[in-house]
Amino acid sequence: MFPAQRPRRLRASAALRDLVAETDLSASRLIAPLFVAEGRDEPRPILSLPGHSQHTLDSLRYEVEALGRAGVGAVILFGVPETKDETGSGAWDPEGVVQVALARLRADVGDDLVVMADLCLDEYTSHGHCGVLDARGVVDNDATLELYARVALAQAEAGAHVVAPSGMMDGQVGAIRTALDGAGFSDVAILAYSAKYASALYGPFREAVAVEIAGGGDRRGYQQDPRNRREALLEARADVDQGADMVMVKPAIAYLDVLSDLRGALEVPVLAYQVSGEYAMIKAAEERGWIDGRAVALELLTAIRRAGADAILTYFARELAGAVS
Ligand code: PBG
Repeated sequence: MFPAQRPRRLRASAALRDLVAETDLSASRLIAPLFVAEGRDEPRPILSLPGHSQHTLDSLRYEVEALGRAGVGAVILFGVPETKDETGSGAWDPEGVVQVALARLRADVGDDLVVMADLCLDEYTSHGHCGVLDARGVVDNDATLELYARVALAQAEAGAHVVAPSGMMDGQVGAIRTALDGAGFSDVAILAYSAKYASALYGPFREAVAVEIAGGGDRRGYQQDPRNRREALLEARADVDQGADMVMVKPAIAYLDVLSDLRGALEVPVLAYQVSGEYAMIKAAEERGWIDGRAVALELLTAIRRAGADAILTYFARELAGAVS
């Protein structure tokens, strides 16, 4: 026998394992993505995201109350508007569904829970892209920045603590920071979706927000190429330089190398988004009895924390808050 190292000594009991565990997971580090639909009387279940619905203003309120009681740290809102147009004007309309929901939620929760708003146009544009199109049908970066600034102001005005630009336009964080500061919203924080990949894992989300990209198109012209790792650092550094308070990697499990790189290179909080497809795969396999869904979910969330995420956006937030706090 080797006299010195016996790693199994510290694995002998749950108490010993807990004492020396390098990673923990608590509800306060979880952020729940929520969908709120305009002009609906009843919440509508999202089939590919079991347990989730397009909420009405009222059902959203109950959901957030339950999340708060469970100790979940934050919520992030996505809107499902009744009508869409070329520029996505519902995204900055003061009467738009997310603005109305933000104002109501802030009145309910105050500062007890962090209220975030996803900042993008794709749910609101008729063509489903994250920005406005130029004459050739290509997303026009700089024209889109002006619209993002409007959305940021509308969300801040409505009470968002944090705005989270997810459109991957160059310069979006700087444009939003300048607009917020210029209007007296210097206390509203920016969570930048810095390393957002053009992933096939967003399918159920697009069902959730009823987004179809025109002509069978995709987002590879603005989201990151899954083959690239170093580029994520370039993106995240640019966002921090422009004033991002927190940065994010998305999706999570397939990009733990990227998460680990960002954690090592940056001082700001680094978050990860366990996206709709990641959730749906676990739920589908669980439904067939092929895996223990809860155990798999906890293992993967722990791995995301271990790789460097300070907080995690996850559709498991409500279901697992009790198991981790
Ligand atoms: C864009 C946005 C998307 C997601 C979050 N914000 C979709 C996309 O880029 O096509 C996906 C989240 C998920 O799959 O859970 N507004």
